[in-house]
Amino acid sequence: MGTHRVVWRLDRAGSIDRLRQVEEPVPDPGTGEVRVRVEAVGLNFADLFAAQGLYSATPKGSFIPGLECTGVVESFGPGAVDSGLAPGDRVVALTRFGAYATRLNVGVEYLRRAPPGWSAVQAAAWAVQGLTAWYAIVPLARVGAGDVVLVQSAAGGVGLQALAILATLGARPVAVVGREEKRRFLIEHCGLAESSVLVRERRQFGARLDDALAACDAKGFDCVLDAVLGPGFRPAFERLRPEGCCVLYGAADFMSRSARPNYPRLAWSYLRRPRVDPLAMIAANRSLMAFNLIWLWERAERLPAAYAGLERLAPDPPHVGAVLPFDDAPSALRLLQGGGTIGKVVLEV
Ligand SMILES: NC(=O)c1ccc[n+]([C@@H]2O[C@H](COP(=O)([O-])OP(=O)(O)OC[C@H]3O[C@@H](n4cnc5c(N)ncnc54)[C@H](OP(=O)(O)O)[C@@H]3O)[C@@H](O)[C@H]2O)c1
Repeated sequence: MGTHRVVWRLDRAGSIDRLRQVEEPVPDPGTGEVRVRVEAVGLNFADLFAAQGLYSATPKGSFIPGLECTGVVESFGPGAVDSGLAPGDRVVALTRFGAYATRLNVGVEYLRRAPPGWSAVQAAAWAVQGLTAWYAIVPLARVGAGDVVLVQSAAGGVGLQALAILATLGARPVAVVGREEKRRFLIEHCGLAESSVLVRERRQFGARLDDALAACDAKGFDCVLDAVLGPGFRPAFERLRPEGCCVLYGAADFMSRSARPNYPRLAWSYLRRPRVDPLAMIAANRSLMAFNLIWLWERAERLPAAYAGLERLAPDPPHVGAVLPFDDAPSALRLLQGGGTIGKVVLEV
């Protein structure tokens, strides 16, 4: 039997102001699908790029944003009953868009039981940002104990999960944030040393990185995690030690402060984007890797191992900085877009 749901929908990408709340029928779950009644939706910076039409994976035409949510299992489509899940189980769902909804049908391969004891809000803060941090640090950069790792946007959703993973691995993080209050948060709540947390700045950034490296008694970074791709990219890349690698997974510096993209600034940022000379990389023994986790959508068989790796290295619930009602999705996106949030922003249904 079909039922109804409330969703946030854009008639097409291009502006956050196009978000509209609509009520619509939700079909019965299809083959291999489970219907989930959503309790909480996790926001990601990619939701902003998708709404603005700057995320290449965004569907053409009308779409519902959202890459993840938590909810309870309601019913099963054909072939999904053997999933091991039962009605009422709390699950975390990965969605290739469509999570800004009170109900949705999800393929069983994209569902995972929520970690025991976590609230729905905590579980909605977990998967996308945690898997991103894990993927960058573990299979790509292969960070080990004692490694000095520069983490850009370290107080953000991905950033805090990266710090948790690095702590378990015994690595030594140097954190970069955009604001002083985030710096204080990392020192007071994450136990980072004063000398290991920098506020991003344009002019003296290289010198500040040198100070942080000197405080670690290190000659260079073993790894740089960067999803800003701003003026801080080059000074950090140049301070990779031989065999060091930079993992690039975003370009937050390209985000506008308005509902639509700021096209002149975007064009300027694009033209001035950092470039890397492959020949110089050979000479310096440095590497650059980049990824978009959306590719995992096509390789769902790899998700269980990825989750297991994340659970082992970051067993505690992630930090949730803001919880807003589902009806306030546009305000929540604005909050994230402002660049001042610490940890995850979650919508509670
Ligand atoms: N490739 C992937 O698969 C993947 C997956 C998830 C996330 N990401 C990327 O990882 C980054 C972090 O994602 P998140 O969801 O965890 O977000 P977040 O870090 O919680 O928030 C984004 C942060 O970006 C920084 N920032 C830099 N320039 C900005 C600007 N012009 N406007 C607004 N913020 C700006 C701000 O922190 P500071 O000012 O403190 O630096 C802001 O808090 C994003 O770039 C996102 O696109 C990539």
